[in-house]
Amino acid sequence: MAENTQTNTIINLLPPDLSKDEGLAKDVANGLSQYPKKLSSKFFYDARGSQLFQQIMELPEYYLTELEHEILERQRKEILFAFGTQSPFQLIDLGAGDALKTKLLIKELVQSETDFTFVPLDISKDQLQELLQELSQTYPDLKVTGLAAEYFQGLKWLNEHSTDRKLVLFLGSNIGNFVPSSAQQFLCQVRESLSPQDRFLLGVDLKKEPEKIRQAYDDAAGVTSAFNLNLLHRINQELQADFDLDKFQHFAEYDPIEGTMRSFIISKEDQEVQVQALNKTFHFDAWEAIHTENSYKYTLKQLKEMALHCGLRIEDVFTDASHGFADVLLKPV
Ligand SMILES: C[S@@+](CC[C@H](N)C(=O)[O-])C[C@H]1O[C@@H](n2cnc3c(N)ncnc32)[C@H](O)[C@@H]1O
Repeated sequence: MAENTQTNTIINLLPPDLSKDEGLAKDVANGLSQYPKKLSSKFFYDARGSQLFQQIMELPEYYLTELEHEILERQRKEILFAFGTQSPFQLIDLGAGDALKTKLLIKELVQSETDFTFVPLDISKDQLQELLQELSQTYPDLKVTGLAAEYFQGLKWLNEHSTDRKLVLFLGSNIGNFVPSSAQQFLCQVRESLSPQDRFLLGVDLKKEPEKIRQAYDDAAGVTSAFNLNLLHRINQELQADFDLDKFQHFAEYDPIEGTMRSFIISKEDQEVQVQALNKTFHFDAWEAIHTENSYKYTLKQLKEMALHCGLRIEDVFTDASHGFADVLLKPV
Protein backbone atom coordinates (compact mmCIF):
# COMPACT_ATOMS: atom_id res chain seq x y z
CA MET A 1 0.00 0.00 0.00
CA ALA A 2 1.38 3.45 -0.84
CA GLU A 3 2.61 5.47 2.11
CA ASN A 4 -0.06 8.13 1.87
CA THR A 5 -2.78 5.53 2.48
CA GLN A 6 -3.67 4.99 6.12
CA THR A 7 -4.14 1.47 7.43
CA ASN A 8 -6.22 0.06 10.28
CA THR A 9 -8.73 2.81 9.87
CA ILE A 10 -11.93 3.55 7.99
CA ILE A 11 -11.81 6.13 5.24
CA ASN A 12 -15.24 7.57 4.79
CA LEU A 13 -16.01 8.60 1.22
CA LEU A 14 -19.77 8.58 1.76
CA PRO A 15 -21.55 11.91 1.72
CA PRO A 16 -22.37 13.34 5.18
CA ASP A 17 -25.33 11.77 6.97
CA LEU A 18 -27.70 14.40 5.75
CA SER A 19 -27.20 13.53 2.09
CA LYS A 20 -27.14 9.79 2.90
CA ASP A 21 -30.71 10.22 4.14
CA GLU A 22 -31.43 12.13 0.96
CA GLY A 23 -30.38 9.00 -0.97
CA LEU A 24 -33.02 6.96 0.80
CA ALA A 25 -35.51 9.83 0.66
CA LYS A 26 -35.03 10.20 -3.09
CA ASP A 27 -35.39 6.46 -3.64
CA VAL A 28 -38.61 6.33 -1.61
CA ALA A 29 -40.06 9.46 -3.22
CA ASN A 30 -39.41 8.18 -6.74
CA GLY A 31 -39.94 4.47 -6.18
CA LEU A 32 -43.28 4.70 -4.38
CA SER A 33 -44.66 7.27 -6.86
CA GLN A 34 -44.29 5.02 -9.90
CA TYR A 35 -46.11 1.94 -11.13
CA PRO A 36 -45.09 -0.74 -10.40
CA LYS A 37 -43.70 0.58 -7.12
CA LYS A 38 -40.09 -0.21 -6.32
CA LEU A 39 -37.39 0.35 -3.70
CA SER A 40 -33.67 -0.17 -4.17
CA SER A 41 -32.08 -3.23 -2.56
CA LYS A 42 -29.03 -1.16 -1.62
CA PHE A 43 -31.01 0.23 1.33
CA PHE A 44 -31.49 -3.24 2.90
CA TYR A 45 -28.28 -2.95 4.86
CA ASP A 46 -28.81 -0.69 7.86
CA ALA A 47 -27.48 -2.16 11.14
CA ARG A 48 -30.57 -4.37 11.57
CA GLY A 49 -30.61 -5.39 7.89
CA SER A 50 -26.95 -6.41 8.07
CA GLN A 51 -27.66 -8.54 11.15
CA LEU A 52 -30.62 -10.19 9.44
CA PHE A 53 -28.51 -10.91 6.38
CA GLN A 54 -25.98 -12.66 8.58
CA GLN A 55 -28.81 -14.87 9.87
CA ILE A 56 -29.91 -15.55 6.28
CA MET A 57 -26.44 -16.78 5.43
CA GLU A 58 -26.79 -19.43 8.14
CA LEU A 59 -30.19 -20.72 6.98
CA PRO A 60 -30.36 -24.27 5.59
CA GLU A 61 -32.20 -23.01 2.49
CA TYR A 62 -29.67 -20.27 1.67
CA TYR A 63 -27.25 -22.51 -0.22
CA LEU A 64 -25.26 -19.61 -1.74
CA THR A 65 -23.01 -18.98 1.26
CA GLU A 66 -22.40 -22.67 1.88
CA LEU A 67 -21.42 -23.37 -1.73
CA GLU A 68 -19.12 -20.36 -2.02
CA HIS A 69 -17.66 -21.13 1.40
CA GLU A 70 -16.88 -24.65 0.16
CA ILE A 71 -15.07 -23.22 -2.88
CA LEU A 72 -12.94 -20.84 -0.84
CA GLU A 73 -12.32 -23.39 1.91
CA ARG A 74 -11.15 -26.12 -0.45
CA GLN A 75 -9.56 -24.12 -3.25
CA ARG A 76 -8.16 -21.03 -1.55
CA LYS A 77 -4.58 -22.07 -2.22
CA GLU A 78 -5.30 -22.62 -5.93
CA ILE A 79 -7.11 -19.27 -6.18
CA LEU A 80 -4.23 -17.38 -4.59
CA PHE A 81 -1.72 -19.30 -6.68
CA ALA A 82 -3.60 -18.37 -9.86
CA PHE A 83 -3.47 -14.70 -8.81
CA GLY A 84 0.20 -14.87 -7.75
CA THR A 85 0.94 -13.35 -4.36
CA GLN A 86 4.67 -12.65 -4.68
CA SER A 87 4.59 -8.83 -4.62
CA PRO A 88 2.70 -6.62 -2.11
CA PHE A 89 -0.91 -6.29 -3.18
CA GLN A 90 -4.31 -5.11 -2.10
CA LEU A 91 -7.09 -7.60 -1.45
CA ILE A 92 -10.12 -5.44 -2.21
CA ASP A 93 -13.50 -6.79 -1.11
CA LEU A 94 -16.36 -4.95 -2.84
CA GLY A 95 -19.45 -5.03 -0.59
CA ALA A 96 -17.45 -6.90 2.06
CA GLY A 97 -20.26 -7.27 4.60
CA ASP A 98 -18.94 -9.50 7.39
CA ALA A 99 -16.29 -10.88 4.96
CA LEU A 100 -17.14 -14.39 6.15
CA LYS A 101 -15.68 -16.07 3.06
CA THR A 102 -12.92 -13.54 2.46
CA LYS A 103 -11.58 -14.41 5.91
CA LEU A 104 -10.64 -17.82 4.48
CA LEU A 105 -8.31 -16.09 2.02
CA ILE A 106 -7.01 -13.75 4.73
CA LYS A 107 -6.22 -16.71 7.00
CA GLU A 108 -4.27 -18.40 4.22
CA LEU A 109 -2.35 -15.23 3.38
CA VAL A 110 -1.50 -14.49 7.01
CA GLN A 111 -0.32 -18.07 7.57
CA SER A 112 1.93 -17.87 4.53
CA GLU A 113 3.26 -14.47 5.73
CA THR A 114 2.26 -12.75 2.49
CA ASP A 115 2.66 -8.98 2.21
CA PHE A 116 -0.80 -7.58 1.47
CA THR A 117 -3.33 -5.01 2.62
CA PHE A 118 -6.94 -5.97 3.11
CA VAL A 119 -9.33 -3.32 1.78
CA PRO A 120 -12.95 -4.06 2.72
CA LEU A 121 -15.25 -1.64 0.91
CA ASP A 122 -18.86 -1.27 1.96
CA ILE A 123 -21.65 1.26 1.84
CA SER A 124 -22.53 0.28 5.43
CA LYS A 125 -20.17 2.01 7.85
CA ASP A 126 -21.60 0.07 10.83
CA GLN A 127 -20.75 -3.18 9.13
CA LEU A 128 -17.21 -2.00 8.35
CA GLN A 129 -16.62 -0.86 11.91
CA GLU A 130 -17.62 -4.27 13.25
CA LEU A 131 -15.40 -6.03 10.73
CA LEU A 132 -12.33 -3.90 11.48
CA GLN A 133 -12.76 -4.41 15.20
CA GLU A 134 -13.02 -8.17 14.78
CA LEU A 135 -10.03 -8.36 12.45
CA SER A 136 -7.84 -6.27 14.75
CA GLN A 137 -8.52 -8.80 17.51
CA THR A 138 -7.89 -11.88 15.39
CA TYR A 139 -4.97 -10.48 13.38
CA PRO A 140 -3.37 -7.55 15.24
CA ASP A 141 -0.66 -7.21 12.56
CA LEU A 142 -2.95 -7.31 9.55
CA LYS A 143 -2.91 -4.14 7.44
CA VAL A 144 -6.54 -3.09 6.87
CA THR A 145 -7.93 -0.01 5.16
CA GLY A 146 -11.72 0.11 5.38
CA LEU A 147 -13.47 2.15 2.72
CA ALA A 148 -16.96 3.39 3.48
CA ALA A 149 -17.95 4.03 -0.10
CA GLU A 150 -20.02 3.10 -3.13
CA TYR A 151 -18.19 0.54 -5.29
CA PHE A 152 -16.74 2.80 -7.98
CA GLN A 153 -16.15 5.77 -5.77
CA GLY A 154 -13.97 3.41 -3.69
CA LEU A 155 -12.15 1.86 -6.67
CA LYS A 156 -11.42 5.31 -8.10
CA TRP A 157 -10.06 6.48 -4.74
CA LEU A 158 -7.82 3.41 -4.50
CA ASN A 159 -6.39 3.98 -7.97
CA GLU A 160 -5.59 7.57 -7.00
CA HIS A 161 -3.89 6.55 -3.76
CA SER A 162 -2.00 3.36 -4.46
CA THR A 163 -0.07 1.63 -7.22
CA ASP A 164 -0.11 -1.83 -5.60
CA ARG A 165 -1.39 -4.79 -7.59
CA LYS A 166 -5.03 -5.58 -6.92
CA LEU A 167 -7.11 -8.69 -6.39
CA VAL A 168 -10.66 -7.35 -6.50
CA LEU A 169 -13.33 -9.59 -4.98
CA PHE A 170 -17.05 -9.35 -5.66
CA LEU A 171 -18.41 -12.37 -3.83
CA GLY A 172 -21.78 -13.67 -2.70
CA SER A 173 -23.32 -13.40 -6.19
CA ASN A 174 -23.83 -9.69 -5.52
CA ILE A 175 -23.58 -9.24 -9.30
CA GLY A 176 -26.97 -10.98 -9.46
CA ASN A 177 -28.63 -7.97 -7.82
CA PHE A 178 -28.13 -5.95 -10.99
CA VAL A 179 -30.36 -6.31 -14.04
CA PRO A 180 -28.20 -7.84 -16.82
CA SER A 181 -27.53 -4.52 -18.58
CA SER A 182 -26.31 -3.00 -15.28
CA ALA A 183 -24.31 -6.15 -14.49
CA GLN A 184 -22.60 -5.72 -17.85
CA GLN A 185 -21.93 -2.07 -17.06
CA PHE A 186 -20.60 -3.04 -13.63
CA LEU A 187 -18.13 -5.51 -15.16
CA CYS A 188 -16.97 -2.88 -17.65
CA GLN A 189 -16.48 -0.31 -14.84
CA VAL A 190 -14.45 -2.79 -12.78
CA ARG A 191 -12.42 -3.56 -15.92
CA GLU A 192 -11.63 0.15 -16.32
CA SER A 193 -10.16 0.25 -12.83
CA LEU A 194 -7.85 -2.73 -13.44
CA SER A 195 -4.24 -2.69 -14.64
CA PRO A 196 -2.99 -5.64 -16.71
CA GLN A 197 -1.48 -7.42 -13.69
CA ASP A 198 -4.67 -7.08 -11.55
CA ARG A 199 -7.33 -9.77 -11.27
CA PHE A 200 -11.03 -9.85 -10.49
CA LEU A 201 -12.63 -12.76 -8.60
CA LEU A 202 -16.37 -12.79 -9.23
CA GLY A 203 -18.77 -15.03 -7.27
CA VAL A 204 -21.77 -16.11 -9.34
CA ASP A 205 -24.80 -18.21 -8.47
CA LEU A 206 -25.40 -20.56 -11.39
CA LYS A 207 -28.76 -21.63 -12.84
CA LYS A 208 -30.07 -24.72 -11.09
CA GLU A 209 -33.31 -26.41 -9.97
CA PRO A 210 -35.86 -23.56 -9.75
CA GLU A 211 -37.46 -24.69 -6.48
CA LYS A 212 -34.10 -24.81 -4.73
CA ILE A 213 -33.48 -21.22 -5.83
CA ARG A 214 -36.94 -20.04 -4.76
CA GLN A 215 -36.66 -21.51 -1.26
CA ALA A 216 -33.35 -19.73 -0.70
CA TYR A 217 -35.29 -16.46 -0.88
CA ASP A 218 -38.37 -17.62 1.02
CA ASP A 219 -37.14 -19.63 3.98
CA ALA A 220 -39.43 -21.53 6.35
CA ALA A 221 -38.27 -19.57 9.43
CA GLY A 222 -39.24 -16.24 7.84
CA VAL A 223 -35.85 -14.54 8.16
CA THR A 224 -35.80 -13.43 4.50
CA SER A 225 -39.30 -12.04 5.00
CA ALA A 226 -38.07 -10.02 8.03
CA PHE A 227 -35.06 -8.84 6.00
CA ASN A 228 -37.25 -7.63 3.14
CA LEU A 229 -39.81 -5.96 5.43
CA ASN A 230 -36.99 -4.29 7.37
CA LEU A 231 -36.82 -1.82 4.49
CA LEU A 232 -40.19 -0.45 5.63
CA HIS A 233 -38.95 -0.37 9.24
CA ARG A 234 -35.90 1.59 8.06
CA ILE A 235 -38.12 4.08 6.22
CA ASN A 236 -40.23 4.44 9.39
CA GLN A 237 -37.11 5.16 11.43
CA GLU A 238 -35.16 7.36 9.05
CA LEU A 239 -37.93 9.17 7.22
CA GLN A 240 -40.58 9.21 9.97
CA ALA A 241 -43.06 7.06 8.07
CA ASP A 242 -45.95 5.04 9.50
CA PHE A 243 -45.75 1.72 7.67
CA ASP A 244 -47.59 -0.95 9.70
CA LEU A 245 -45.44 -4.01 8.95
CA ASP A 246 -48.33 -6.39 9.78
CA LYS A 247 -50.20 -4.99 6.80
CA PHE A 248 -47.47 -6.03 4.35
CA GLN A 249 -46.01 -9.39 3.37
CA HIS A 250 -42.94 -10.78 1.67
CA PHE A 251 -43.32 -12.59 -1.66
CA ALA A 252 -40.62 -14.20 -3.82
CA GLU A 253 -40.79 -15.90 -7.23
CA TYR A 254 -38.27 -17.37 -9.68
CA ASP A 255 -38.46 -17.01 -13.47
CA PRO A 256 -36.45 -19.91 -14.93
CA ILE A 257 -36.41 -18.42 -18.44
CA GLU A 258 -34.77 -15.15 -17.47
CA GLY A 259 -33.00 -16.75 -14.50
CA THR A 260 -34.45 -14.05 -12.23
CA MET A 261 -35.34 -14.41 -8.60
CA ARG A 262 -37.56 -11.46 -7.68
CA SER A 263 -38.60 -10.31 -4.21
CA PHE A 264 -41.56 -8.09 -3.45
CA ILE A 265 -43.32 -6.49 -0.52
CA ILE A 266 -47.07 -6.85 -0.95
CA SER A 267 -49.67 -4.59 0.60
CA LYS A 268 -52.27 -6.88 2.20
CA GLU A 269 -54.97 -4.22 2.06
CA ASP A 270 -55.97 -0.91 0.55
CA GLN A 271 -54.09 1.64 2.68
CA GLU A 272 -52.27 4.94 2.89
CA VAL A 273 -48.85 5.51 4.38
CA GLN A 274 -47.46 8.87 5.43
CA VAL A 275 -43.78 9.70 5.07
CA GLN A 276 -43.29 12.83 7.16
CA ALA A 277 -39.76 13.61 5.99
CA LEU A 278 -41.08 13.78 2.42
CA ASN A 279 -44.30 15.46 3.40
CA LYS A 280 -46.07 12.86 1.25
CA THR A 281 -48.75 10.21 1.50
CA PHE A 282 -48.56 7.08 -0.64
CA HIS A 283 -51.57 4.98 -1.57
CA PHE A 284 -51.37 1.19 -1.79
CA ASP A 285 -54.12 -0.86 -3.42
CA ALA A 286 -54.92 -4.21 -1.83
CA TRP A 287 -52.31 -6.74 -3.07
CA GLU A 288 -50.23 -4.07 -4.79
CA ALA A 289 -46.55 -4.99 -4.94
CA ILE A 290 -43.32 -3.08 -4.27
CA HIS A 291 -40.46 -4.68 -6.19
CA THR A 292 -37.46 -4.72 -3.84
CA GLU A 293 -34.86 -7.10 -5.23
CA ASN A 294 -33.65 -8.97 -8.30
CA SER A 295 -31.25 -11.83 -8.05
CA TYR A 296 -30.14 -13.05 -11.46
CA LYS A 297 -28.69 -16.50 -11.99
CA TYR A 298 -26.25 -17.12 -14.83
CA THR A 299 -24.64 -19.89 -16.85
CA LEU A 300 -20.87 -19.85 -17.29
CA LYS A 301 -21.41 -19.31 -21.01
CA GLN A 302 -23.44 -16.15 -20.38
CA LEU A 303 -20.79 -14.92 -17.99
CA LYS A 304 -17.97 -15.54 -20.42
CA GLU A 305 -19.76 -13.47 -23.08
CA MET A 306 -20.49 -10.61 -20.68
CA ALA A 307 -16.89 -10.55 -19.48
CA LEU A 308 -15.43 -10.64 -23.00
CA HIS A 309 -17.64 -7.76 -24.03
CA CYS A 310 -15.84 -5.67 -21.36
CA GLY A 311 -12.32 -6.85 -22.14
CA LEU A 312 -12.14 -9.48 -19.41
CA ARG A 313 -11.16 -13.07 -20.05
CA ILE A 314 -11.93 -16.02 -17.79
CA GLU A 315 -8.58 -17.26 -16.50
CA ASP A 316 -9.89 -19.90 -14.11
CA VAL A 317 -13.23 -21.18 -12.81
CA PHE A 318 -13.54 -22.55 -9.28
CA THR A 319 -16.81 -24.38 -8.55
CA ASP A 320 -18.30 -26.35 -5.66
CA ALA A 321 -18.87 -30.11 -6.00
CA SER A 322 -22.50 -29.66 -7.19
CA HIS A 323 -21.55 -26.97 -9.76
CA GLY A 324 -24.17 -24.72 -8.24
CA PHE A 325 -21.87 -21.74 -7.67
CA ALA A 326 -18.72 -20.44 -9.33
CA ASP A 327 -15.92 -18.09 -8.34
CA VAL A 328 -14.53 -16.92 -11.64
CA LEU A 329 -11.07 -15.39 -11.92
CA LEU A 330 -11.10 -12.70 -14.59
CA LYS A 331 -8.09 -11.16 -16.25
CA PRO A 332 -7.98 -7.93 -18.26
CA VAL A 333 -7.21 -8.50 -21.95
C1 LIG B 1 -25.12 -9.52 0.30
S1 LIG B 1 -23.91 -8.69 1.21
C2 LIG B 1 -22.51 -9.63 0.71
C3 LIG B 1 -21.45 -9.71 1.73
C4 LIG B 1 -20.23 -10.53 1.33
N1 LIG B 1 -19.51 -9.96 0.20
C5 LIG B 1 -20.59 -11.96 1.01
O1 LIG B 1 -20.29 -12.43 -0.07
O2 LIG B 1 -21.16 -12.64 1.89
C6 LIG B 1 -23.79 -7.22 0.28
C7 LIG B 1 -22.93 -6.13 0.89
O3 LIG B 1 -22.72 -5.13 -0.11
C8 LIG B 1 -22.89 -3.84 0.46
N2 LIG B 1 -23.35 -2.94 -0.62
C9 LIG B 1 -24.56 -2.94 -1.23
N3 LIG B 1 -24.62 -1.99 -2.18
C10 LIG B 1 -23.40 -1.37 -2.17
C11 LIG B 1 -22.82 -0.31 -2.95
N4 LIG B 1 -23.51 0.30 -3.91
N5 LIG B 1 -21.54 0.06 -2.67
C12 LIG B 1 -20.83 -0.57 -1.68
N6 LIG B 1 -21.33 -1.58 -0.93
C13 LIG B 1 -22.59 -1.98 -1.17
C14 LIG B 1 -23.90 -4.05 1.57
O4 LIG B 1 -23.81 -3.06 2.57
C15 LIG B 1 -23.57 -5.46 2.08
O5 LIG B 1 -22.70 -5.45 3.18
